[in-house]
Amino acid sequence: MNGTSSAGALTGSSAWRRLLTVRTPAHARSVGLVERSDGTWCWDGPATAAATDLVARYLPLCLAGPRLAFAQLGQSVDGFIATRTGDADYVTGDEDRRHLHRLRALADAVLVGAGTAVSDDPRLTVRACEGAHPVRVVLDPHGRVPADRHVFTDGSAPTLWLVGPDGRPPHLVAEGVTVVWLPDREAFAPQRLVEVLNRRGLGRVLVEGGGVTVSRFLHAGALERLYVTVAPVLLGDGVPGLRFDGPDVMRAARRPPLRRAFLGEDTLFEFDLTVPTGPIDPTSPTSPTGQ
Ligand SMILES: NC(=O)c1ccc[n+]([C@@H]2O[C@H](COP(=O)([O-])OP(=O)(O)OC[C@H]3O[C@@H](n4cnc5c(N)ncnc54)[C@H](OP(=O)(O)O)[C@@H]3O)[C@@H](O)[C@H]2O)c1
Repeated sequence: MNGTSSAGALTGSSAWRRLLTVRTPAHARSVGLVERSDGTWCWDGPATAAATDLVARYLPLCLAGPRLAFAQLGQSVDGFIATRTGDADYVTGDEDRRHLHRLRALADAVLVGAGTAVSDDPRLTVRACEGAHPVRVVLDPHGRVPADRHVFTDGSAPTLWLVGPDGRPPHLVAEGVTVVWLPDREAFAPQRLVEVLNRRGLGRVLVEGGGVTVSRFLHAGALERLYVTVAPVLLGDGVPGLRFDGPDVMRAARRPPLRRAFLGEDTLFEFDLTVPTGPIDPTSPTSPTGQ
């Protein structure tokens, strides 16, 4: 049968095609998913391990609502997202690349900072799985990203080039590229950027790097979900991943609820940032030292 293995079980590729359309529990039911009594979901019928894993990993994101911002970084065990020369090709393995492309396919927009656009010249399209390309967004307050980047020239998907008042992008840009002038520095505050994209109908925003950009969104409280894939590689030095004003003591560190998965040799951490996780109150009776 179409979309099933020789044993009659739903295949991973067929499951992914169905998941791509899911945004509400009603959608989920209409593509053959059923909710268990514990709130988790499964296929209503035989499914391969790949089809089952896809539901566990991506259905929560599919059902997370029409408006959310989520971020992904791939980093070394010692916290770097590229070498000291800016080489990030590749930090994590093939399975994480496929995961990243799935996140793009579930997003309306994929956003990168000027540093990534300059250094990686990424295409930001969906190639490692089935799915539509999101709108590409480049944060370039000083207009320093060269106009010859793939996102501005390849025409694969629309691109928004977000520039500040002192930026100098070319007057003529390729078809499909829209220059959005933001009036001042404040307009680049992460929440305001998300609002700008939402107003353009881009509700689900993937912040794909680099470290400075994701850190600013995280620190501003503008992310609902954060994916960090850790590769078993030691770099010693390089482009830092997440950096923000941290706490003085471990007990005050943020520990958001998380899920873990293995992607080949890499480990994926998925943090739910919608649950408030303030510093631990040392006087609380449930605190580890609050006896
Ligand atoms: N492993 C991975 O997952 C991964 C993913 C992406 C990139 N990378 C690597 O990361 C490196 C680049 O990362 P990066 O941290 O140096 O730079 P980045 O985050 O790509 O870009 C930072 C720049 O983007 C602009 N920007 C970002 N957020 C802004 C905001 N809210 N308001 C105003 N401007 C904002 C600023 O440009 P101005 O400086 O012009 O003000 C800022 O300096 C590259 O080497 C790339 O290969 C790795």
